[in-house]
Amino acid sequence: MTSGIAHELNNPLNNISLTTEALIGGMEDYSEEQKLRMLQEIFTQVERASGTVRNLLDFTRTEYRLEPIHIQGVIQASLKLVNNELQINNIEVETDFAPDLANVRGNFHDLQQVFLNLFLNSIQAMPNGGKMSISVRSENDKYLKTDVKDTGCGIPKENLDRIFEPFFTTKEVGKGTGLGLSVIYGVIEKIGGHIKVDSELGQWTRFSVYLPVE
Ligand SMILES: Nc1ncnc2c1ncn2[C@@H]1O[C@H](COP(=O)(O)OP(=O)(O)OP(=O)(O)O)[C@@H](O)[C@H]1O
Ligand SMILES: [Mg+2]
Repeated sequence: MTSGIAHELNNPLNNISLTTEALIGGMEDYSEEQKLRMLQEIFTQVERASGTVRNLLDFTRTEYRLEPIHIQGVIQASLKLVNNELQINNIEVETDFAPDLANVRGNFHDLQQVFLNLFLNSIQAMPNGGKMSISVRSENDKYLKTDVKDTGCGIPKENLDRIFEPFFTTKEVGKGTGLGLSVIYGVIEKIGGHIKVDSELGQWTRFSVYLPVE
């Protein structure tokens, strides 16, 4: 990326960062009107950044394309990215890929984002170690179903409907923005798949990702 474009992106990102920080630090001190104005400012800056990205995409003609993707490769690449965190937190990983898996229709980078976010959530749910099990199998020859199960803190029933909402988080300020699962949801929807969650509080959580095969 040329430095000009980096700068064009950096500016709005800085503004977003500063405004968000001020908002987090002054939740009680600002009036509703001031808070609204700050949120509008953030929105404007996001629009500005996405405008830059849109121009960049037009310019390089790298439009969003769905390609045949080998899911096992995406999962292994995503696991590599969290290898350190897994070791530090004493988390054992078990993978179980069915033989002769078909390709899915998707975008490597986006799908990596999906699994990365799921793995990070699992890691954060197991501060005292545990096990993350990943399995992939075919579902009616139409979808590949990937289960990511952890032996972490679990999700209370009343939260199960809300976790995919943007900004829903149970993590302390500075630890989570609550965007991970909403991004995952958006990506999966865009490629024609869906995601389900099941959990037993204090025991385990399992996310099931269904992706359409090529
Ligand atoms: N594997 C999991 N085990 C237990 N709770 C989970 C798990 N995955 C998600 N959650 C719950 O869902 C909430 C929303 O998750 P999400 O990934 O959207 O945001 P976050 O992890 O809090 O923040 P961010 O992903 O933006 O850093 C989490 O705060 C947590 O309460
Ligand atoms: Mg998260």
